[in-house]
Amino acid sequence: MNLKKQQAIGIFDSGIGGLTVAKAVAEALPNEDIIYFGDTARVPYGGKSKETVSEYALEITGFLLEKGVKMILVACNTVSAYAKDRIIEKAGTLPVLDVISAGTQAVLDHPKHKNVGVIGTLATVNSEAYVRSIQQEDPGISVTQKACPLLVPLAEEGWIDNDIAKQALSVYLKHFADKEIDSLVLGCTHYPLFKQVIPSILNREETYIIDSADSIAQMAKEKLEKLDLLNSEGGEFQCFVSDRPQRFHELAQRFLGKPLKQAEIIHL
Ligand code: DGL
Repeated sequence: MNLKKQQAIGIFDSGIGGLTVAKAVAEALPNEDIIYFGDTARVPYGGKSKETVSEYALEITGFLLEKGVKMILVACNTVSAYAKDRIIEKAGTLPVLDVISAGTQAVLDHPKHKNVGVIGTLATVNSEAYVRSIQQEDPGISVTQKACPLLVPLAEEGWIDNDIAKQALSVYLKHFADKEIDSLVLGCTHYPLFKQVIPSILNREETYIIDSADSIAQMAKEKLEKLDLLNSEGGEFQCFVSDRPQRFHELAQRFLGKPLKQAEIIHL
């Protein structure tokens, strides 16, 4: 495949969560065009089977390939846990990076990472993808997980700091009360939306919050540099969704804090 600098970076998630990744990528690589896909018709993915999530992920990969992207960032932990290998296979020689590998790297890079907590969707937690990925690098790290299935619908609704969000978080995070974790991985790309409230609810100052967004943005930058594919002329951000484009557009603008082109609807 003959890739060119001017081609966009493709980023996808089940909904708005992957915007946490897109934001970090846009900051690290301001001259890159970004094509974002949010599968708003089928969100949430976290309670679905491996077969279903893989089928959706391959359809989206096909869409991004048709759009002519030069790299794919899997901005969904659930998809990374269930379908990473199949996406890589479908993408051929196109570089594919995923948030679980990036999150693992962020854990290893941080000095305090011997007793790690991971929160994620049911799918991500049940797959044990983080446990394997982290312990493959260092079997001495202890990993405690907790699935938080209500957080994705709350984030999609824009309920990120109201009483209901805080109550849900305090029930989920109680799991770590006696675990003395030194870092907590936000193992779902929707969860950084709750970043403002998580530290006070966790109530453990010494726990470092790990979000894979900056890590995957850095990995993307290094990869493009290595392949001599860095763009110096782009910077466009275009969103596609499978349902409710107006709703997505409003949430996306609010979250990214800047005006965006209208999101387009795509039926895969
Ligand atoms: N944001 C996704 C993740 O990182 C998907 C959440 C969902 O759709 O349940 O897992």
